[in-house]
Amino acid sequence: MTLEMTAATDAALDHARAGREKTLADLDELLRIESVSADPARDGAVREAARWVMDRLVSIGFEHVAAHETSGHPIITADWLHAGEDRPTVLVYCHYDVQPSDPEEEWVRPPFEPRHEDGRIYARGAGDDKGQLVIHLRAAEAWMRTAGRLPLNVRIFFEGDEEVGSEPADRFILEHPELLAADVCVVSDTGMQDDDGTPALTYGLRGIAYFEVKVSGPFQDLHSGEYGGAIANPANVLVKMLASLQDERGRVTIPGFYDRVRPLTDADRTAYAEIPFDPEELRDAVEVPALWDGEEGYSVLERLSARPTFDINGMWGGYSGDGAKTIIPAWAAAKFSTRLVPDQDFHEIERIVVDHLRSIAPPEVRVDVRVIHGGAPALTTLDHPAVAVAADALEAAFGRRPVFLRSGGSIPVVAALEAHAGLKSVLVGFASPNGNFHAPNEWMPEANVHVGIEAIVRLWGAMGEMTGARLRG
Ligand code: BES
Ligand code: MN
Repeated sequence: MTLEMTAATDAALDHARAGREKTLADLDELLRIESVSADPARDGAVREAARWVMDRLVSIGFEHVAAHETSGHPIITADWLHAGEDRPTVLVYCHYDVQPSDPEEEWVRPPFEPRHEDGRIYARGAGDDKGQLVIHLRAAEAWMRTAGRLPLNVRIFFEGDEEVGSEPADRFILEHPELLAADVCVVSDTGMQDDDGTPALTYGLRGIAYFEVKVSGPFQDLHSGEYGGAIANPANVLVKMLASLQDERGRVTIPGFYDRVRPLTDADRTAYAEIPFDPEELRDAVEVPALWDGEEGYSVLERLSARPTFDINGMWGGYSGDGAKTIIPAWAAAKFSTRLVPDQDFHEIERIVVDHLRSIAPPEVRVDVRVIHGGAPALTTLDHPAVAVAADALEAAFGRRPVFLRSGGSIPVVAALEAHAGLKSVLVGFASPNGNFHAPNEWMPEANVHVGIEAIVRLWGAMGEMTGARLRG
């Protein structure tokens, strides 16, 4: 780095370190807003979160701060493009919506009342993804308040529908490429390697196809003694149908499901084998008696991120109250999803799953299947110039070389940005891999927020010394 850039970066780092309390206070404010995108009753709260983020962007000095109306929640864009045309432009992606917080009674404190304990911030969205969004706000603020400028051009792309499938963002990428034009996208919505401060760069994400199915039988619940034996039980039919979609080792049985799955190369398998991983630690962390064998011929880590999965997310219908009630329920329903890997096409998977379920529906019931959302898998390249700069920035901030990870989770915009806008992403994530994403008592290490800001401050400084062409590779 030039001396000048080093001094400017140091000043921004000092500003970030001196502002740690303000950072946590900011994050607490955002965490108190119940921006649950899945809950229509919380529409107002999602908007309030968008408003809060926009106010921050304006006060930091971002320009063209805008909320775009969508079929879902607002998409926020903003920019600061005064670093010079020869400087690179990065697009920053995070999401301000969160998952539902149920089961509420399992939280030590209510999910939207942030609790700070043992260096952790507990709240829904602490790690996924509000803590990471605030990292980006505070890193930009540190540069603006010290240098009066950013060292490179930055565009902001924040959405409020990530946790419900990113459909509006998908469409937005097609309709507004001009607001997203950049040399590379930096996504912060993933995790670190561990809780000892080993950072990670994620280069793979799974895709998803999500469904709801309802099996209907008699016009209303029936006495199971009077009618049992002649009337098909919709709950029995539902569990049989769903169970038939997967064999004992976890392979999906739907014809064609694996047709486009890219096999792991020897290099992939070597890379997986080199990642430090202890299956017993995983077993103990989630308190199961044993890990599942799963698909034959694949290691646990491979099954966790490089192979497709099938999961029932919830089932309901019939009687689940106290005591016993003897009925044939009128209907039963379930939500289920499959995680997809390259090169599975989620539209195609949606079609074959729906067709297959209809084809196995017995004539005694009615089966309605509905697609809820889908997203494409992504594999980014590790030889992108932005990956090397990001790895150095993470190492400088955390004092350890980052690990390269393929994640089992999904972030639909990553594939969409590449497919529709030709934009590659680097996934620089700061959440804890044990941080209870989508679960009770979600938490984020305070240290990761603070050091994460330093990593982004450094990343902007380092990228700001490159030209756009060099960063683009
Ligand atoms: N931050 C997660 C994705 C993630 C999970 C990355 C675990 C790394 C490790 C993201 O917010 C998420 O949960 N996405 C949803 C997307 C879905 C609703 C389309 C997911 O994966 O369930
Ligand atoms: Mn999530």
